[in-house]
Amino acid sequence: MAFPQHVRLVEMSPRDGLQNEPGAVIATDIKTGLIDRLADCGLTHIESASFVSPKWVPQMGDAAEVMAGIRRKAGVRYSVLTPNLKGFENALAAGADEVAVFGAASESFSQKNINCSVAESLERFAPVMAAAQQAGIPVRGYVSTVLGCPYEGEIAPEKVATVAKALFDMGCYEISLGDTIGVGTPLKAKRMLEAVARYVPMACLAAHFHDTYGQALANLYAVLEEGVAVIDASVAGLGGCPYAKGASGNVATEDVLYLLQGLGINTGVNLDKLVATGGWISAQLHRHNGSKVGQALGAQ
Ligand code: HMG
Ligand code: MG
Repeated sequence: MAFPQHVRLVEMSPRDGLQNEPGAVIATDIKTGLIDRLADCGLTHIESASFVSPKWVPQMGDAAEVMAGIRRKAGVRYSVLTPNLKGFENALAAGADEVAVFGAASESFSQKNINCSVAESLERFAPVMAAAQQAGIPVRGYVSTVLGCPYEGEIAPEKVATVAKALFDMGCYEISLGDTIGVGTPLKAKRMLEAVARYVPMACLAAHFHDTYGQALANLYAVLEEGVAVIDASVAGLGGCPYAKGASGNVATEDVLYLLQGLGINTGVNLDKLVATGGWISAQLHRHNGSKVGQALGAQ
């Protein structure tokens, strides 16, 4: 058992957290207020918006305005999702520091989420990779449904490994493994990770676990034991996925940070400020705070 000494937290709430909020489109200044607060907490990597079709994901329709409204903090990487070249060009114009392409280990999920097969998605990412390389923009790659699919059920670890390898070989510097619907359990998470790590170095892998079944912290503990040192999380557990009914948000950043502090793992993030930020955004959205740690410390 050799835990990493340092974990990089990649904050998902402005993108994965807000993309699925029901009701009216959230005001741009709430989104930028959230991002600025997260940067003040010491987070150095914040997924801030999505340059996707506003018809598909209306909550992300103001991505360019969000990017323009952020109070840029030195040392913080403000990244965005880009499903295709159009998204990349808009992201570049908006000043994104990093972009991410997103594929899936499941054919059905790929169709529902980005309207194409897994193979077609990889073809669409190729010009994004080329344009990003030319512009000097790093590209992260996501693989969704790594521990189960809402349409197909079980997903073979080999299938995850194949897609992860394809994204890595294409030039993604890091592959984030998404348990999109939060169905995984620790041993399954380890098996999946082992399969992927045969093709992609552990140092280039991130865990992106949703907490639908309350397993995310246990799964994170399991993959930390294997050497994963990058964790995606969302303050107050904000979020869900528009193309995975019933899925809840990413594991709450406050809860992950509390776990990591208990394990003596350094992150550079301030827990008190993070709890305050989770409380603030929950109040702004009139939403239940999905972080247990946020609730416990917020009540003190
Ligand atoms: P499509 O309809 O197949 O695309 O959608 P198209 O190329 O045929 O274009 C159709 C229309 O969309 C056109 O406009 C395009 O201009 C426009 P129209 O002529 O009809 O007026 N369009 C765009 N507009 C703005 N930005 C763009 C863009 N591209 C095309 N980039 C597409 C294909 C990929 C665009 C669509 O399916 C889409 O936007 N999907 C986004 C889905 C999404 O954002 N899902 C959530 C994020 S993924 C996630 O949450 C999982 C993750 O967290 C990991 C995990 O948890 O597993 C990452
Ligand atoms: Mg997600």
